[in-house]
Amino acid sequence: MKIQSEQPIGFMDSGLGGISVLREAVRLMPGEDFIYIGDSAHAPYGTRPQEEIRRLTYDVVDRLLERGIKALAVACNTATGAAVASLRQMYPELPLVGIEPAIKPAVETNRGGRILVMATPMTIRQDKFKRLLAKYEGLAEVVPIPCEGLMEFVEAGTLGGEQLDAYLERVVGPFLTEDTESIVLGCTHCPFLRPDLRSFLKGREIALIDGSYGTARELRRRIEEAGLLRQGHQGSVAIENTSGNPELVRRSYELLQMEL
Ligand code: DGL
Repeated sequence: MKIQSEQPIGFMDSGLGGISVLREAVRLMPGEDFIYIGDSAHAPYGTRPQEEIRRLTYDVVDRLLERGIKALAVACNTATGAAVASLRQMYPELPLVGIEPAIKPAVETNRGGRILVMATPMTIRQDKFKRLLAKYEGLAEVVPIPCEGLMEFVEAGTLGGEQLDAYLERVVGPFLTEDTESIVLGCTHCPFLRPDLRSFLKGREIALIDGSYGTARELRRRIEEAGLLRQGHQGSVAIENTSGNPELVRRSYELLQMEL
């Protein structure tokens, strides 16, 4: 079947995190219909074996394909590392983007200080991430921080407060040096924690860098290149969650509107 511009764009993540990428895509492509599936029933992905993450990702992508999507965004760093290369081979005709920790812009704007990367333990263990680090070796000090247990705060709707602060103090605190210059938010759940991260950093001039805008822009570029961009139409967003929990869907729409 020929892909038509009227078909929706599919988004997936292990849970609510990918909404941070979706919100940028909606701004850049207001004429598009989006379907987002959050796989909270199987979250977190970031502590599972690679093979399992790949299988879970395929399952969600299958659901999106059944809905007739014309393009796909894997809005999860962990799922991207595990599955995007094989998805590209499986669906060569489908405009497809993944997301990776935004180390590139952090290195390009670096003035000699330390760059921290917050990501899931699995993202950090993946070969894709190791290759990304190797690319910038010698250009900047890039230090990955495995953030097990962080996405759970966002899934639970806890975007601030004592417990989150204690988590950041314990997990990120030990890596914060005098010369830390930027923190790459290498998990799509992290941008929703920006306000709390800012207060955790107590006014220090540390840039928080995430790849959501860049990923959404790349998605638009690929859709446009394929002649599939939809304009002159009022777009829409439909969010679903594999958990079947309406509260998670409600919270997802709330995150979509959140001012960051
Ligand atoms: N949102 C996912 C990412 O960007 C991580 C959350 C998880 O562990 O499932 O890597």
